[in-house]
Amino acid sequence: MSISTTHVTLNNGKKMPLFGLGTWQSKPEEVKTAVRTALDAGYRLIDTAYNYLNEEAIGEALDEYFKSGKLKREDVFICTKLATIYTRPADVARSMSASLQKLKLSYVDLFLIHAPMACKVPDDPTNVFPVKDGKIDAEDRVDFEGVWKEMEKLVDEGKAKSIGISNFNAAQLERIRKVARVMPVTNQVECHAFFPQTKLETYMKKYNMTIMAYSPIGSPGRLSGPTSITDRTPTPVLLDDPVIAKLATKYNKSPAQILLRNLLQRRIIMIPKSVTPSRIQQNGNIFDFTLSDEDMAAVAGIDRGVRMFKAEMMSHLEDYPFSADV
Ligand SMILES: NC(=O)c1ccc[n+]([C@@H]2O[C@H](COP(=O)([O-])OP(=O)(O)OC[C@H]3O[C@@H](n4cnc5c(N)ncnc54)[C@H](OP(=O)(O)O)[C@@H]3O)[C@@H](O)[C@H]2O)c1
Repeated sequence: MSISTTHVTLNNGKKMPLFGLGTWQSKPEEVKTAVRTALDAGYRLIDTAYNYLNEEAIGEALDEYFKSGKLKREDVFICTKLATIYTRPADVARSMSASLQKLKLSYVDLFLIHAPMACKVPDDPTNVFPVKDGKIDAEDRVDFEGVWKEMEKLVDEGKAKSIGISNFNAAQLERIRKVARVMPVTNQVECHAFFPQTKLETYMKKYNMTIMAYSPIGSPGRLSGPTSITDRTPTPVLLDDPVIAKLATKYNKSPAQILLRNLLQRRIIMIPKSVTPSRIQQNGNIFDFTLSDEDMAAVAGIDRGVRMFKAEMMSHLEDYPFSADV
């Protein structure tokens, strides 16, 4: 097993790397080096989004890499997401076109509905989470069915090889499933040792869908993100958890490596973010050890059942996803 050869087979038969680079909060001037470092280290999956406002820089880094002949387009799996300001049927195609243009690609491997949230289109399209009176300015309900039909057209047109969702609860996933001609391959959700999503995982497995874990090491940098999506309450830091620290000493690895290895052994797709070259390399270096069953159980034992990304500023919306247990 190695970083560049470890895949899952999606429910449409396509292969997807289990391990990749996250890029939320990676500034354009930092993300180019991050992408180059990651690809050099063997990463073959890059996760971005219209909302991250860094697709253009990622596109430049990919273009340089492909032109250098080190890798071909088909060697790399690129995931991006529908803008939260364009989560309505009439706007899906333009969000996809904008992302493809910025990424300098003719297709992405995976296109996700970023969240069950349709923000009002702001005057400034870079204002990805428009806020009014202290709350997210969005439609009360999302036309999931209509949006999904437009997502399916992107597959027909070859612009997205696979499509999926993100931040959906089980009932919302069910609404998509009922109308789907093309099934979602994954649901990208918060998933780490403090919030391991075992119930959602069991539910999704029924449909041969795999979780794509965001914030796999506990998103230690999240509090510098927008107030609209992250809970500001200081929470225990996953990387400092004593059980993880003990395992790090035992296996002679870092806490981040223990957390990522745990997800790898659960066969959950993960996309740790870093713009620090040494951390990008370190995070990918998890293929040379195995956590014992007893130590996997010890990591399962630190589940706190509390999510960090509560997006409380959207909790007034009818389609707010995080009130449900699963
Ligand atoms: N779909 C969604 O709604 C959604 C929401 C959140 C995230 N995501 C995706 O998931 C990705 C990962 O989630 P995330 O960025 O929230 O959190 P994360 O990957 O759990 O943590 C990233 C943070 O950890 C630091 N870090 C990375 N490796 C480290 C190491 N070995 N030791 C110590 N610190 C380390 C990074 O700092 P430096 O960069 O300074 O090194 C950064 O501050 C995102 O980047 C994004 O692609 C999606």
